[in-house]
Amino acid sequence: MPRLPRKPQVELELTDPEPFPAGLHYLPGYFDETAQGALVADVRQLLVEAPLFKQSMPKSGAPLSVRMSNAGDFGWVTDREGGYRYQTVHPVTGKRWPPIPTVFLDLWQGVTSEIEPPNMCLINFYDAGARLGLHQDKGESSLEAPVVSVSLGDEATFSVGGMVRKDPVRRLRLRSGDVVWFGGPSRLIFHGVEGIRPGTSPLLEEHGFAASGRINITLRRIGR
Ligand code: SIN
Ligand code: FE2
Repeated sequence: MPRLPRKPQVELELTDPEPFPAGLHYLPGYFDETAQGALVADVRQLLVEAPLFKQSMPKSGAPLSVRMSNAGDFGWVTDREGGYRYQTVHPVTGKRWPPIPTVFLDLWQGVTSEIEPPNMCLINFYDAGARLGLHQDKGESSLEAPVVSVSLGDEATFSVGGMVRKDPVRRLRLRSGDVVWFGGPSRLIFHGVEGIRPGTSPLLEEHGFAASGRINITLRRIGR
């Protein structure tokens, strides 16, 4: 991948002449307001069965600011004792994760040419102070299959780096209904969320959430 110039504080917009690295796809406004409402309703239902929970870092036990839950055969879990892992049950309720809603499966089908459906779906909830450090989606997830993600609710500053941590980072403002997916040569691209802009979207509160915030849904395949 070509080295990209560092552009601190400058957010990449559609008009930015810098092309995305091969394999990284940004689909702004993929879901309209009606579709976003349907997605949030599905997430809310899902969170009744599998409530958001606090994760913590391996070894240090430092808490993650993003609260999470999962759907599908496997869920991503991390804590001090067990480290990063995929497991079939919710760490608090002990119950299996609920199935991945059909609209998410349709999204995967719609944007990728994968024959196999995703078997894990991570739900991230960002409140005003939440952020997610630069990371690669590794572990036991299949590197052949892409990673597909949807943003709902408040805007976020998404950072995209390169294949090594120290590569320069570009910033992309993700809005409700936007889809980002990466695979092939970008499957292991470093990415993270620097923060959200609280109150920039009424979507979550309109659909029964107590406060505004941002939901990100990530679909992957775990190859076991
Ligand atoms: C993630 O990388 O797990 C989430 C990305 C996002 O929230 O947009
Ligand atoms: Fe990620």
